[in-house]
Amino acid sequence: MAYSAKVMDHFANPRNVGEMKDYSGMGEVGNPKCGDIMRMYIKVEGNVITDVSFMTFGCGAAIATSSMATEMIKGKSIDDALKLTNKAVMEALDGLPPVKIHCSVLAEQAIKAAVADYYRRQGIDPTPIVGEIAECEECACEV
Ligand code: FES
Repeated sequence: MAYSAKVMDHFANPRNVGEMKDYSGMGEVGNPKCGDIMRMYIKVEGNVITDVSFMTFGCGAAIATSSMATEMIKGKSIDDALKLTNKAVMEALDGLPPVKIHCSVLAEQAIKAAVADYYRRQGIDPTPIVGEIAECEECACEV
């Protein structure tokens, strides 16, 4: 299985790793088949994601996609962050091996879960804004 140089870089030097104490929203998603877990923290000020961090108990592709995803939503509006797809993250990483595509879904879902938590804390029902946060059902989960 070949990883791109960008994937290897984000795996070896992940950006925005760590716990955030004063977060505005926190989302945790897991992949029940492989057992990988991702937690995403966001800090929101005036509808803009001013800071983001993540913690992943997962494979190299999950770490690399989370790292890239955090870089892509930092400083963006919530609307823009919700538009970020796992496909866009994979393209930014110059691709992933097909068997690892499901790992990138985890990052996308973790962002949505963090935004949903942010809205819930404001007393707003997040479902019409964020949609359902689906589990990865077609996961091949080869670790
Ligand atoms: Fe489960 Fe990558 S997220 S193997």
